[in-house]
Amino acid sequence: MGEAAEAAAAQPRLLGLPGEIRAEVVATQALGRRVGFVPTMGALHAGHLALVERAAADCDDVVVSVFVNPTQFGPHEDFARYPRNLAADLSLLAGRGVRWVFAPAVESMYPPGHATRIEVGGPAIGFEGVIRPAHFSGVATVVCRLFQCVPADAAYFGAKDWQQTRVVARMVADLGLPLTVVVCPTVREPDGLAMSSRNAYLSAGDRERAVSLSRAVAEAEALWSSGSEVAAIEMAMRACMVDRGVEVEYAAVVDAESLGPVSAGAAVALVAGRLGSTRLLDNALLPARGGSG
Ligand code: PAF
Repeated sequence: MGEAAEAAAAQPRLLGLPGEIRAEVVATQALGRRVGFVPTMGALHAGHLALVERAAADCDDVVVSVFVNPTQFGPHEDFARYPRNLAADLSLLAGRGVRWVFAPAVESMYPPGHATRIEVGGPAIGFEGVIRPAHFSGVATVVCRLFQCVPADAAYFGAKDWQQTRVVARMVADLGLPLTVVVCPTVREPDGLAMSSRNAYLSAGDRERAVSLSRAVAEAEALWSSGSEVAAIEMAMRACMVDRGVEVEYAAVVDAESLGPVSAGAAVALVAGRLGSTRLLDNALLPARGGSG
């Protein structure tokens, strides 16, 4: 990389209009460059930075979007208080090989009178789909719109939101969108808690209790590899969280792709629970063991 290119890579260029970012991406692709895209809602942490690092390793240019998407929050959820600090996000991204940050206004993503939603069935139906009924429709709608603004070659998502990765992958396959969905491993705090922008909401006491989600899925991994039955693993995960005062929303072992009953393929242990007003999720992928569990 020449000096000018290095300087450009050090500080990402901030763009807000869909047409601007699209023109930049299309022009760089016309030069034969591969573009990687990391969609985020900001409040960046080490989990996001790991996605950026992977995108920068795989691609010539990287775009990060920062957009707190109103349509994926329910009426009583944390849209208003979701942490927003674009200046801090930009400084975290400096020097990491990000060429553009796309931070659109709500009206640019959803023009006045917008009336189109994308509804994904299959993996969107259970779990988060039950607890947050319009959530995945909001995610699919905004991700599709973001892919239209940023027509990247590959998009990077964290495995922490496993169900979201399956919903996005399903939508990409069903609509024939010309990009690869890359899922990167969950990044954890030293005690195991999965990194999440929502961890910032936790009180000191709840922060201590929150580690029980990662312990629950670690226990699921151990029980799965020792051949335990699905029902026993689910009970153990639930007990692990209940013992630490977590209000459990679900603790389940399901097929990793369909999120339906365990099949001969890989499975996933999914947990969600509440600590005070904060919802946390975690999961662990479980290797195929060749029969139903
Ligand atoms: O995972 C997130 O941060 C969001 O759901 C996403 C994919 C950026 C869509 O708003």
